Amino acid sequence: MRIDIITVLPELLKSPFEASILKRAIEAKLVSVHFHNLRDYTTDNYKSIDDTQFGGGAGMVMMCEPIDKCISALKAERNYDEVIYMTPDGNTLNQGIANKLSLKENIIILCGHYKGVDQRIRDMFITKEISIGDYVLSGGELGAAVLCDSIIRLIPGVLGNETSALTDSFQDNLLAPPIYTKPRDYKGHHVPEVLLSGHAANIEKWREEQAYQRTKKRRPDLLED
Ligand code: ADE
Repeated sequence: MRIDIITVLPELLKSPFEASILKRAIEAKLVSVHFHNLRDYTTDNYKSIDDTQFGGGAGMVMMCEPIDKCISALKAERNYDEVIYMTPDGNTLNQGIANKLSLKENIIILCGHYKGVDQRIRDMFITKEISIGDYVLSGGELGAAVLCDSIIRLIPGVLGNETSALTDSFQDNLLAPPIYTKPRDYKGHHVPEVLLSGHAANIEKWREEQAYQRTKKRRPDLLED
């Protein structure tokens, strides 16, 4: 998989890809991530990427031309399955979206800033708009990092244990059950007996029940789907 990220702040985005699972996925060539600084696609001396809004109103709008140039240059090189715009008014990211995107070959992610991008860019190029939650960030970069993390860990071969992504929270629309490690007794708090029983079927049943109860209590909306 190849991911191209268009941003005015590449330095804000790089560190999540330089550690742990994402770093290993890149080193193993299971994914490549490329950063494109929007200011490299400007034509004026000030490297402007934004301007005031038509119709008035506070806040700057990201201009069409640099974004058009950048996306068009990328599209001239290869076909893209999706051109994603990170924005608080997009569809809220969930595991289903991450699962689908992890199967794609090439994607572009455009990070918004200020008030966002000129609507014509959305009309001309964007195939998916994604929000990471109902709150407003200073820009799309942190959202793009979250999106990439959620996608990359699902690419076959990225996680050491192939099955472990399948038992994550949300993978079957349930939250994950409680988990424990050594010691068995920590300051009088004991690990549930069933987990020490060695009885695989009972352990599985307990985990399913715990996952269901936790979901019912914390996220009943997930059970409605
Ligand atoms: N840009 C600003 N806020 C955002 C959000 N909640 N999700 C994605 N991109 C954003």
